[in-house]
Amino acid sequence: KVSGVVVIGSMTADVTAIANTLPRGGETVLGEGLTLVSGGKGSNQAAMASRMGMNTWMVGCVGTDAFQSIVLDSLRDHGVNTDFVDKLDNEKTGVAHIRVDRNGNNDIVIVPMANNRTNPERVDRFFDSNPNVNTMLLQLEIPVPTVMYAAKEAKKRGLTVIFDPAPAAPFPDELYKYVDIVTPNETETTVLTGIEVTDVATAKTAAQVLLDKGVKLVIITLAEKGVLIADGKSFHHLSSFDVEVVDSTAAGDAFTGTLGACVSQGKTIEESVQYAMAAGALTVTKSGAQTSLPNKEEITLLMKGGCLN
Ligand code: RIB
Ligand code: NA
Repeated sequence: KVSGVVVIGSMTADVTAIANTLPRGGETVLGEGLTLVSGGKGSNQAAMASRMGMNTWMVGCVGTDAFQSIVLDSLRDHGVNTDFVDKLDNEKTGVAHIRVDRNGNNDIVIVPMANNRTNPERVDRFFDSNPNVNTMLLQLEIPVPTVMYAAKEAKKRGLTVIFDPAPAAPFPDELYKYVDIVTPNETETTVLTGIEVTDVATAKTAAQVLLDKGVKLVIITLAEKGVLIADGKSFHHLSSFDVEVVDSTAAGDAFTGTLGACVSQGKTIEESVQYAMAAGALTVTKSGAQTSLPNKEEITLLMKGGCLN
């Protein structure tokens, strides 16, 4: 069986300001640093899947501006195939405006720009060329109708569809029918189910709501409280790795990208989630989005309980 991963999703230039404390409404503070790196949930997940050794394709749109090369160079450096990334004239590359404080907390304003032009025709173009993939990764930084279309087409072709409903946004319940695995965090789970998720017990209740909507497998990431896996027959809780938080940006993407790679390789769900958790944990120890993704060796070492430095 061929294995390979396709990501239909967003690419952004991440402009990150680092400050001791973040300003509250109307306040101004002095910052400590500024970075400009490649990001976007789609792009981060593609970079991570490729780091895990998968043949990985990115499908989406960038603009024709100075940020285009920040996005494309990083994907190519990661070995991601960008043949299906459209460079649109008279359009701007997406931007994420991020602020990080000294505790590693962040907030983000995403301005999608070209990402909003990722339409079903671009998905068709990918499938028409028939690359060998068995897994599709989707998020919510491109238009919802495109996400729906991509999931539907992927299901028709027998791919495993992994959907990271981030950032939290409304979408029709029909989408769950075409999704094999959904990977929300606490906040997203709360938005999707209306159940306030604060611990493993409330996560179980919420997971059941998502299963009832038709998704086959629910994997809720609970940060330091670990991960809950629910497959409709039983619940399985895995404890998180203990790491120092520097910047949590892209931790969720490291998780989903690694999960996609492992599932594509045919690993069991539990083993795949363990790899994904290690990848997410390592990502919070470094600053930036794509710049903070770990490699396979670091992941394996953490899983073995080895020393990181
Ligand atoms: O998940 C992290 C990503 O979300 C960042 O890279 C930023 O681009 C935002 O979209
Ligand atoms: Na990070």
